[in-house]
Parts: sequence; C-alpha cells; structure tokens
Amino acid sequence: MIHLDANASTPIRAEVLEAMLPWLRDGYANPSGTYAEAKRARQAIEEARLQVAEWLGALPEEIIFTGGGTESVNTALHSLDCNAGDGVALVSAIEHSAVLRYAESLPRGVKLAPVNAGGRLDLDAFAEGLSEAAFVSVMAANNETGVIQPLREVCAMARERGLAVHTDAVQAVGKIAVKVREWGVDLLSLSAHKFHGPKGVGALYVRGGLKFSPLLLGGGQEGGRRSGTENTAGIVGMGAAALLMRKQLVADGHAAMRGMRDAFETKLLDELAGVTVNGDMRQRLPNTSHLSFEGCEAAGLLILLDEAGIACSAGSACMSGKQQPSHVQMAMGIDETVARSSLRFSFSTLNTMGEAFAAAVMVKRAVEKLRRVQGAGVGPVQVYCV
Ligand SMILES: Cc1ncc(COP(=O)(O)O)c(C=O)c1O
Repeated sequence: MIHLDANASTPIRAEVLEAMLPWLRDGYANPSGTYAEAKRARQAIEEARLQVAEWLGALPEEIIFTGGGTESVNTALHSLDCNAGDGVALVSAIEHSAVLRYAESLPRGVKLAPVNAGGRLDLDAFAEGLSEAAFVSVMAANNETGVIQPLREVCAMARERGLAVHTDAVQAVGKIAVKVREWGVDLLSLSAHKFHGPKGVGALYVRGGLKFSPLLLGGGQEGGRRSGTENTAGIVGMGAAALLMRKQLVADGHAAMRGMRDAFETKLLDELAGVTVNGDMRQRLPNTSHLSFEGCEAAGLLILLDEAGIACSAGSACMSGKQQPSHVQMAMGIDETVARSSLRFSFSTLNTMGEAFAAAVMVKRAVEKLRRVQGAGVGPVQVYCV
C-alpha cells in the first residue's frame, strides 16, 4: 500500500517505537510514585517535555501532556471560556470539528470568521469579528487543504484588544517551523500521531502567566492542569518523534516531502485534463495536495484507488448515505459538484519519490476509468456508508 493519508495519521517511526518499547514492557511504574522505578518514569516524561518544549521554542513548564489533539483543543477552549470576559468565541470557519463542536457547545455562542477562495482567513472580516469576541481560536494550517493561516497577524490583532489566542497546530507541527513566541499565541495544541508518534497522546502549550482552568479534574497530575496517570510510553514516543522531526526540519526544511508532493501534483496536472488544485498554493503545508477531478465522484475514486493500493481521503464526509461536501470547501466558495470530486493526498517523511510517481500513474488511471464509466452513462458509483 502507498500511504498518502498522513494528515489522517502517520506510521510510527522505528526510532520512536524503539524508545517506547521499554516503557510498554517494563516501565509500568506510576510516574507519581516515590520509589526508584517511578522516578525513572518521571524522569523520562520530563525529558520528553523538554524535547517538545525546545522544539516549539517554549519552556518545559509551559507544556502539558494530554490524550491527543482533541483533548488539547477542548482543554484550551474550556480554559479560555472560563477566564474570558463577555463576548463570543471567534473561530475560523474552516476549523477542525474538535474546535467547532466544542465552541458551538459554549453558551456564550460562536462566531465563524470567513476565509477567502484560497482557504486563508479573511483578515478584514476577522478584524470586524474581534469587536464581539471574548477569545480567539484559529488553526495554524488546515487539515484538508493544508493552507497555512496568517497566525502572526491574528495574534497581533487579538493582542491589541487584549484577547487570548489558541491555535490548533495539529497539522502544522512536524511540517513547518512552529515557534510559539514568534507567532505570539497563548495556547497551542498538537497531536503525536500526526508526526510519526503514537496515537492517543498530545500536548498543549500554555503560555507562562496565562490564567488556566483545567478540563480534567482528579489526581492533580501535570501540575494540576491535567489529571490522569501519565501515558509514559506515549509521552516518551512523542518526545522521540519531536526530536526526529526537529532534526529533519533543520536538515532539509522538509524539502524532500515538498519534492514528492510537487512531483505527484505536477505529473497529474501535466498529464490529466480537468484537475484543479484547491487552496492557496503559495501558503501550503509541504505535504498536502487537495485536488478536484472534473467529472469524477470522489467516492468512486476512493474505491478504485483503494483497489490499486493507494490510501488517501475524500474531502467530503459521508452522512446519511450521501457524500456531503466539506465545510472547508463550502467556506472557500467551491461549487458543491467540484467539492464532491475532491481528494486529499498527504505525504509523510516516510514516503518515497518512487511512491509519488507510482501514485500519480494510478490516480490518472483511476480518473480515466471513472470518466469512461460515467461518460458511458453507467452513472455515479454508489457508495454505502458504514
Ligand atoms: C486540525 C486537527 N485538529 C485536531 C485533530 C484531532 O486530533 P486527534 O486525532 O489527536 O484527537 C485533528 C485530527 O485529524 C486535526 O487534523
């Protein structure tokens, strides 16, 4: 299988697994214990905290370990809600459901800041929204299109009004340089399985001095900011993945990943008519390619590509047996039919150039086949959701 769905999840790197194994096998002691084994686990956790903190340009005490991206995001929004004054939660219209669903659940109400046709936040509309806002959450990069958001501007504008900013950086971390102080964010969420770490572990950066209210209450772990026994192996794995990705970024600026994505995209654009790249191509993560294929239902393409051994995602969600265009594409003003013909291909550091070329050949074949079938009046391929 050629895995081109890294924005959904990435394989654990061998070095990460190696680092985790001793903690899964023998390192079961509760890190809050007072005996030697427990202290070793605590030390491993603190080492990982330092690795994550240094990567983000933060202090170790500003990092809280969590059970993944969704928990980090929910915790951040909960804390902002507890500590902000009157006003709505101002979030971008293209946020991940972890932000949207939580923000919508708040009695204070939510305002969606629109994006332009390239999928970037409309800063004028955002500025208007700020007048009603109590706090802000804008993602660093979008999970569907890979479009990078103008976070420095967002933070500067929010700061002028004294508003705190959370960013969901789950897709940005590990793909572009993420420096909390350069951006000026107050809270930042990340998730290990998006950068070759394990699933079910994440982190939340909380700027030193920011008023914070925990979401999970209990034993008072993580300095009382996130109760629950720490996932030692997972946290160690995230630290190891952070170290690897940091080295990779320094070594090549993720040029290899960008090269594969660009080669894949260029080959398809050169050899196939009716292909559109969605999203601002100058402000994109180096690994993501979001494409629409004229005359093809994404659901049908997914089936053909799965048969050919390519793993990727549709930009649409399957609801009540029907493909629904994604809220991201709708916010960008993309036509519904075009939206339903879109696929997301996302590369990781473990893909190869050979895979990029092979995948482009197979995508081309699948598109041509589907166009032939649909052109012959057989009609759209039916997909039944399970
Ligand atoms: C932008 C974004 N935020 C949050 C999440 C949720 O992260 P997790 O799967 O670790 O809960 C995802 C996962 O796809 C994501 O892409």
